[in-house]
Amino acid sequence: MTAHVDITANPENELHQLHQHLQSHLERLLPTGQQTDYVRAAMRAGVLAPGKRIRPLLLLLAARDMGCDDLQHGVLDLACAVEMVHAASLILDDIPSMDNAQMRRGRPTIHRQFGENVAILAAIALLSRAFEVIAIAPDLPALQKSEAIAELSSAVGLQGLVQGQFQDLHQGAHSRSPEAIAITNELKTSVLFRATLQLAAIAADATPHMRQKLSYFAQDLGQAFQLLDDLADGYKHTGKDTDQDLGKSTLVQMLGADGAERRLRDHLRSADAHLACACHRGIATRQYMHALFNQQLAMFH
Ligand code: IPE
Ligand code: IPE
Ligand code: MG
Ligand code: MG
Ligand code: MG
Repeated sequence: MTAHVDITANPENELHQLHQHLQSHLERLLPTGQQTDYVRAAMRAGVLAPGKRIRPLLLLLAARDMGCDDLQHGVLDLACAVEMVHAASLILDDIPSMDNAQMRRGRPTIHRQFGENVAILAAIALLSRAFEVIAIAPDLPALQKSEAIAELSSAVGLQGLVQGQFQDLHQGAHSRSPEAIAITNELKTSVLFRATLQLAAIAADATPHMRQKLSYFAQDLGQAFQLLDDLADGYKHTGKDTDQDLGKSTLVQMLGADGAERRLRDHLRSADAHLACACHRGIATRQYMHALFNQQLAMFH
């Protein structure tokens, strides 16, 4: 797994352009400050480092598949807000009292660059900035803003990332059932994908039926994605520490690499079927999802 995703690296590819739009909008939303403004610098370093931008790309593509212009109607603000929440979760995930990671996106982790207290403050400030970006988005109607904030805040909180991270840290060292691991993975990973897709649905004014299908899609996608991440743990060139999951109960450790990959492919098939029901009109999201997983899974063979 590479720090950059090849499918967005080709300038001929439209995904590359969306990637660039995201990067420049994130830059605009997080301007530079004084040289001694370390928290701001840490926020920028966490977000602007070369991530795959999977969540904001999914948001833009799904909004388009549901008939909404992906670079208008505040969709770019929503996409960047989701990426800020994700980046905050990575900064916290890496600190010494959590995963104690040294490398992220091919660079030293934020606490290694700026110190742990600055890293924690930067993560909090990024969460707060994400909600502010939605609240003041110039092109979003008030009702869509409040719906989006409700979705995203619940994905962060006690029934979302916070709970997932807590379970991962406090139960991961013990043996767990596959069901217990899947619940943790759902909270750690699916829940933010779900909010991402719901934000696209809000911008596109999608029907309750489409929203339901997107929610199922995100559930499977999150499970597949966490399996992919766990499978990549022993590999170099991910831009992250290797063997972070040694001694941790994961589905890869329990099912073996082949079993985990089979399970991943089952989730992908199911995700694809839900997505096809949600977005009859477009296939951009489906194509992106397949290209992403094919490219990443190729690494294991
Ligand atoms: C890493 O997410 C955290 C997980 C949920 C597994 P990504 O693999 O999307 O990380 P970046 O954004 O590309 O760095
Ligand atoms: C990701 O789990 C959980 C988050 C939501 C941050 P990991 O701890 O496996 O993610 P990586 O491997 O450090 O990116
Ligand atoms: Mg972790
Ligand atoms: Mg980690
Ligand atoms: Mg991992």
